[in-house]
Amino acid sequence: MSAPPPTLASARSLTLGGRAVSLGWARVGDPSAAGLAPAESALLSARATPSRRAQFAAGRAAAREALRGLGLVPEALCVVRQPPTASDAGRPVVARADGGHLEAPPSLSLTHSGSLACAAAMIGAQTIGIDLECVEPVGSPAFEQEAFAPGELADFARFAAHGIAPITAAWTLKEAALKVWGVGLRAVLPAVRLVPGELERGPARGLVFTARVLVGAQPPGLPPPPLRLWCAMLREGAAVLSLAVEHLADAVTQDRGGSTPLRG
Ligand SMILES: CC(C)(COP(=O)(O)OP(=O)(O)OC[C@H]1O[C@@H](n2cnc3c(N)ncnc32)[C@H](O)[C@@H]1OP(=O)(O)O)[C@@H](O)C(=O)NCCC(=O)NCCS
Repeated sequence: MSAPPPTLASARSLTLGGRAVSLGWARVGDPSAAGLAPAESALLSARATPSRRAQFAAGRAAAREALRGLGLVPEALCVVRQPPTASDAGRPVVARADGGHLEAPPSLSLTHSGSLACAAAMIGAQTIGIDLECVEPVGSPAFEQEAFAPGELADFARFAAHGIAPITAAWTLKEAALKVWGVGLRAVLPAVRLVPGELERGPARGLVFTARVLVGAQPPGLPPPPLRLWCAMLREGAAVLSLAVEHLADAVTQDRGGSTPLRG
């Protein structure tokens, strides 16, 4: 288990794409993170290990904190997921704990790494995706070939000047982008290329920027990918939290302009 990054875990809010994003954190195994709504418990497989149960519960506790930060009443809500038949199967969905209809649910994303779980929630039509890595991913030619498009990592070299290892920047942002898209690792990763734009200083010794998403051939049945993202990257030591929010202005352009080829 990696060392928890205490300063990073004190980040509670930021603005991304003009929207307020609320962050919640919880420690895996913390008894105060144990409570689950019945609809949440039902998502856990009977075969889930104690460590997976603790990780899942910490994610829901982090989600409650993030929802509270938006001014919502988390005790009345729960975080379920899109069903296996949906094109974005597995995407977390905020619902009413009593099973009633929730008008305009906030977008929410979850991540776990080491002993920490983090959630980000945002009001509005855009979808959000986040990914936390507490230690730098072990780079190898095989991993780089499986995870990145040809030449993609080179565009992340600039992050090193801001204290973020390029491979951590590229990997966490890709996972966050795949969560915005709602497909996770069902996408063919080398056919998804993220191209970060100009980097600006952001909160928590982090960065804010936009990124283009270039998508090549993918399996059938996936939802349409986002074309551009608002992004933030917060860091502490080797730990990095990447956040991505769909850039809706470009979704309109996509409707008019057709598909985007992957340029590698
Ligand atoms: C999304 C994914 C890449 C994250 O894996 P990871 O980086 O190892 O783990 P993280 O801790 O950062 O993120 C896990 C969280 O991602 C979220 N997630 C899972 N599928 C997701 C999707 N399709 N879209 C957005 N978020 C998703 C979940 O909230 C999950 O936490 P939970 O299971 O405790 O609720 C991985 O779960 C995946 O590829 N899923 C594929 C989608 C799928 O087939 N889902 C089937 C379930 S019905």
